[in-house]
Amino acid sequence: MTETASGATETAGDLPEFPSSRSRENPFLPPPGLLALHETGESLVRVRQWDGETPWMSTSHEVSRQLLSSDKLSAGISAPGYPITTPSMKAHAPHMEPGLNNTDGAEHTRWRRMLTNSFTRKRMALLRPEIQQMTDELIDRMLEGPNPANLNEAVSLPLPSLMICALLGVPYEDHTFFQKHATVVNSTTKTAEEGAATNKALREYIQGLIEKKMDDPQEDVLTDLGEKIKEGVLAMDEAQRLGLMLLVAGHDTSANMITLGTALLLRNPDQLAALRENAGDERFVANAVEELLRYLTIAHLLARRAVLEDFEIAGVTIRKGDGVIAALPIANHDPEAFPDPARLDLSRRASHHLAFGWGPHQCVGQQLARIELQVAFGSLFTKVPTLSLAADFDSLRFKEDSQAYGIYELPVKW
Ligand code: HEM
Repeated sequence: MTETASGATETAGDLPEFPSSRSRENPFLPPPGLLALHETGESLVRVRQWDGETPWMSTSHEVSRQLLSSDKLSAGISAPGYPITTPSMKAHAPHMEPGLNNTDGAEHTRWRRMLTNSFTRKRMALLRPEIQQMTDELIDRMLEGPNPANLNEAVSLPLPSLMICALLGVPYEDHTFFQKHATVVNSTTKTAEEGAATNKALREYIQGLIEKKMDDPQEDVLTDLGEKIKEGVLAMDEAQRLGLMLLVAGHDTSANMITLGTALLLRNPDQLAALRENAGDERFVANAVEELLRYLTIAHLLARRAVLEDFEIAGVTIRKGDGVIAALPIANHDPEAFPDPARLDLSRRASHHLAFGWGPHQCVGQQLARIELQVAFGSLFTKVPTLSLAADFDSLRFKEDSQAYGIYELPVKW
């Protein structure tokens, strides 16, 4: 039996499932079973996980923000109550070493500080011309190749992969290796053995690169991490973990946004027409990207926490050892924060969305991702005005089994 927000008790079987399935009709929207919770008027509800645990889930944009900035919650995956979404994570959790995404307070600040200079807004803005040039080249190459093409392979994956390689100092020739492993890292259905093998392969790979850069420094983030090792402020295994996270999060997320956003726009011709008309207006495109980020919220399973001490929020007492999910897609479809949330409206004010999270763990790479998406969406439909889907919409395979929501292949023609 589980105590709910109203103080009533329910059996776990009566509770909504997290995660739950999307609708085939509109797979761009968050799961209907979770969206319906907005109508209950409760900001915090109990949900049921695959392992029978019943963490709290926030349905409200405002409450999610409060939760994610609270020092009474921990991002520690092995902290009691932390909501664990997959069997492989459950197997891995007790052995999880501390890192950027699973520490709190001063310890987390120390990790963040390792990257302070690498991802500043100013530094990312300087990359825009290079991102534009890469995007143009990738689109031109797609147009010269076979028609139809898979957008993932032609543009969505190479663009952020090339950028994160350039920033970190990872050879792009190795993209098949790291993209394949990133898919395993993000998979929710991998076995514990597959997870461990992928982790080992990526860490050894990153270590090899850092060692090379310690002998022969370059202008890149892995060299910066190597310098920190030499200064004695970072250990090699810590640098491996940071490098791994940046490499994986640095390409798979933006790639999924480009593919999914393109498919969503092709399904919304009026919004696509508005984007094409205003493609030369940087402010319109920047805002359109915020709306796409809000609508799609591809980090659909992230922002989970464990409660460190009892506290009251939204009229509910949550207890030490409870789990909390600040369900980002549900917060981004909260009608209180975004009226008529299921309507894609590229001109709505959407920048207060939580697609990059909120609070101390907010996304490190958000400025980079924003510029990649602004350039991609600002260029694709003007350079390829006849771009359309080259497959039956119903045949598209959506990534419900990945930490980063997306579409496995997007066949397009022009
Ligand atoms: C559209 C693209 C992206 C989305 C939607 C996204 C989303 C997110 C979200 C929601 C979080 C917070 C998770 C939490 O609070 O538990 C996060 C954290 C993080 N992201 Fe991203 N991300 C994107 C792109 C990137 C890129 C390009 C990079 C690297 C260059 C990156 C690196 C990171 C890192 C290192 C963290 C952990 C930060 C911390 O825990 O302090 N992300 N991201």
